[in-house]
Amino acid sequence: MSNTTGTLAVRVARIEQVTPEIKRFTLVSPDGAPLPPFSGGSNLVVLIPHASGSYRNAYSLMSSPYNTSSYQIAVRRVATGRGGSRRLHDTIRQGDLLEVLRPVNLFPLSKHARLHLFIAGGVGITPVCSQLAELRLRGTPFEVHLAVRGAEHALLGEELRREYGDAIHLYHGDQGERLNIAAVLAGRPLGSDVYVCGPEGMIEDTVTAAHDHGWTDSHIHYERFLEQGSVGEAFSVTLARSGATVHVSPDQSLLEAAESAGHHIPYLCRGGACGMCETRVLDLDGELIHTDDWLSDADKSANKKIMPCVSRAKCARLVIDC
Ligand code: FES
Repeated sequence: MSNTTGTLAVRVARIEQVTPEIKRFTLVSPDGAPLPPFSGGSNLVVLIPHASGSYRNAYSLMSSPYNTSSYQIAVRRVATGRGGSRRLHDTIRQGDLLEVLRPVNLFPLSKHARLHLFIAGGVGITPVCSQLAELRLRGTPFEVHLAVRGAEHALLGEELRREYGDAIHLYHGDQGERLNIAAVLAGRPLGSDVYVCGPEGMIEDTVTAAHDHGWTDSHIHYERFLEQGSVGEAFSVTLARSGATVHVSPDQSLLEAAESAGHHIPYLCRGGACGMCETRVLDLDGELIHTDDWLSDADKSANKKIMPCVSRAKCARLVIDC
């Protein structure tokens, strides 16, 4: 099913506006064949065409892992940045063909939890959707606590409430309803796990509340909203193993530029958080612009490593070990 570049072709079968900012895309195989399987919490990287190539943005899969006749992703239209989500919103139509990569999972469910608690804000509910489908089949109890700004942002939560009933708790900010994270976590039985996906403050509040209640890190799981790709000044990089020199344009990440030129750099999150793309810097005449959350401050100062999915360089010469 994958072609020689490792991508899969999919057809856009349906596009729905589910909130003022979010569209849900349903993707199917052009020949109707099943798509590769995935597990709850997985991401799908979509190649978004633009004038001189393609952006590679990762989106949470929200459909059931037990239905591989289609994939569903939710895309929030981001007004700033390089425009990948805007292209999906504004130019992709039903029936169009896209390329995607095989799903990867950076936010998997715990195999041993007796109760799964989900805390989510806004579009952070999307990875939870596929996780709930998996839990229902496993027969493991769960609760979802979803904060939204107002009724027009609550459609995904309401869909979940129709599907899973009282396990779904919605908090409408414009009606003064407040999600009290500490209260949600209080008094839970041993063997409970908490998952949080939302703004940075919500993640910090959940981790702090869980620690205050004596939860250990192995029972706390979170997924950040990641800035995809990278924009900045153009630069060139030499890939030491092949000797090839790759030009990184202003709206491309180093990772995307290498991929477009046919070179493979391992990746998972594409947002500077997972560490998978960490690459040694062999030679540098200039400075690196580190924008990842992975490398330590000491590593960033030493300039011996770079995360090509988000970080860039301002330099006359850069040679990396790949
Ligand atoms: S792919 Fe995750 S940090 Fe680069």
